[in-house]
Amino acid sequence: MTEHHGTIESHPLGQDEAQNTFPPSAEFRAQANVNDPSVYWRAAEDPEAYWAKRASELRWTKPFTEILDWSNPPFAKWFADGELNVAANCLDRHIAEGIGDRVAIHFEGEPGDTRTLTYAELTHEVKRAANMLTSLGVEAGDRVAIYMPMIPEAVISMLAVARLGAAHSVVFGGFSADSLRARIDDAEAELVITADGGYRKGRVSALKPTVDDALALRGGGSTVKNVLVVQRTGNDVTMQEGRDLWWHEEVVAYDDQHEAKGFPAENPLFILYTSGTTGKPKGILHTSGGYLTQVTATHRDIFDLKPETDVYWCTADIGWITGHSYVVYGPLANGATQVIYEGTPETPDWGRWWSIIQKYGVTIFYTAPTAIRACMKVGRQVPEQYDLSSIRVLGSVGEPINPEAWRWYHEVIGGEKAPIVDTWWQTETGAIMISPLPGLTSLKPGSAQSPQPGIDVSIVDEKGRRVDRGQGGLLTIRRPWPSMVRTIWGDPDRFVDTYWSQVDGQYFAGDGARVDEDGDIWLMGRVDDVMNVSGHRLSTTEIESALVDHVAVAESAVVGADDETTGQAVVAFVILKSQQQIITADEAEAELKKHVATQIGAIARPRQVFVVNELPKTRSGKIMRRLLKDAAEGREIGDVTTLADTSVMQIISDRVRSEK
Ligand code: WT7
Repeated sequence: MTEHHGTIESHPLGQDEAQNTFPPSAEFRAQANVNDPSVYWRAAEDPEAYWAKRASELRWTKPFTEILDWSNPPFAKWFADGELNVAANCLDRHIAEGIGDRVAIHFEGEPGDTRTLTYAELTHEVKRAANMLTSLGVEAGDRVAIYMPMIPEAVISMLAVARLGAAHSVVFGGFSADSLRARIDDAEAELVITADGGYRKGRVSALKPTVDDALALRGGGSTVKNVLVVQRTGNDVTMQEGRDLWWHEEVVAYDDQHEAKGFPAENPLFILYTSGTTGKPKGILHTSGGYLTQVTATHRDIFDLKPETDVYWCTADIGWITGHSYVVYGPLANGATQVIYEGTPETPDWGRWWSIIQKYGVTIFYTAPTAIRACMKVGRQVPEQYDLSSIRVLGSVGEPINPEAWRWYHEVIGGEKAPIVDTWWQTETGAIMISPLPGLTSLKPGSAQSPQPGIDVSIVDEKGRRVDRGQGGLLTIRRPWPSMVRTIWGDPDRFVDTYWSQVDGQYFAGDGARVDEDGDIWLMGRVDDVMNVSGHRLSTTEIESALVDHVAVAESAVVGADDETTGQAVVAFVILKSQQQIITADEAEAELKKHVATQIGAIARPRQVFVVNELPKTRSGKIMRRLLKDAAEGREIGDVTTLADTSVMQIISDRVRSEK
């Protein structure tokens, strides 16, 4: 079992926060989609019946008769004899129900260009794209890599792949050529859909050249047969004859007639790579029926979605699970109207998000604490210049929201009237697992509070026994849930080891949590070697491998240190090779930051790199990252008695202090 860092004890939120609660207003409660508290116990009595009922809200081409097959744990099957088409549930179903004229997407490009797509128009685009992909040889069971900016074609591509029963693997546009290539190879993707570039921070951020670099790696041979390129920014790109095709030139050849076939509920829908405790990213596999059931149900209940009147906006990129579940599948299956924005919140200035909310009359807004803290820093005078009165529900995701940020969000963005749903979940869980229900829950700033109906979360000690109220422990999930990860792509043993072997027979999420006297859950961060930087998951080991990959580096240790804005920040400690004269310690810092960004992606760039002569190790040679974290956060160094050399931490912490 991995060493558990002191996060459970050191979390800033205490029990007194629990005193400060915000019950739903009578008006909100009366109109809420879920306002009968008996939903919790009724679902708990028979979770399978609960989920079967929620699944039947979807359109099945062949109804299921089986609910859960848990005969081979931890490999679950949900609704396995049923068949459905996920894309048709997001599109054709709404047309058939007569809401084709409803806006599906209000797209706002960063430079200010806009595009509106109704459900009818989106369906038409997806059907044409599906025909185009078919002619490129995409069939059920294949994998397609998607490396795109936040533009409508990203959503269209995902849905077109899903419509054919193939699986997409979306790779966040900020990832490097190396990271992209590793994901393409692992999934054996035969097609990559990309764009020339996207707009970010007022500039063109090129994507196609990175795809070219990725495919040129390892001698140039890969599983990829074609690269389909959407024209977005008009930057110069090289098109390789026979391999690369322009989307706009191809798609015109196809019509918008395409009949969606049903696929088995357990047909793979997508692979999404996420960082674990080892260097190699894990391909999290999600399938169709159970996934769509849970994302659709949670999206409707937790955000209190009224598809006829709400304007929903989730700021996540489709490169992350939040974008998959709460930009693409949940909202579209519910027939919601949503905003998709391409760029960053500070472009052209920090008023951008608020001006978008005012312009489209956004009623439900879902973002991450790191973004809220960044906006807080800029000051409330910016959002106060905009009319945000349309907002009626706010959401938070990605990391614990500190009570100070919660209150600011509540007051400044929510006008003190919009409930905030703090939603805990993971790439692996596929959908929200712990969250308030806005019509029922008395909110506690900083707590995600309640497992959703039909979800069996517990806080346990290392032996898997439930802890008492008022205590902390490990967050586990006992019963399988419909949108759970089915396996790690190509590595079922790793799936069993990573999630199901640490706490016997239970899914171990990697998070520490406390349960307060009322039974509400307070998340306290990862207890493994996974960092959370701006709500994005990074592996310490992966960054360490990138560092030692540099010619000048002999050894490295990476920790996630508390950071006011990003939650955690990457802090690296490196030992340079002694014979290495090519860079000085000073040059090393800048050079290694850049190196990590090129190897993995800009999100992994260390905030600080410290060149040290030694790393703190136990007598058995294990690096004590906990002590490095103490140093990086400027705390007194913890117990050093197990170190082989007890003086090393003193030298390191002096070194860190001298930098401040
Ligand atoms: C990890 C999962 C789920 C979408 C975004 C991240 C942390 C997520 C919360 C929350 C406290 C949270 C956990 C989790 N996390 N949401 N509301 N409160 N922590 O997805 O990259 O798979 O990361 O994010 O540590 O394990 P992910």
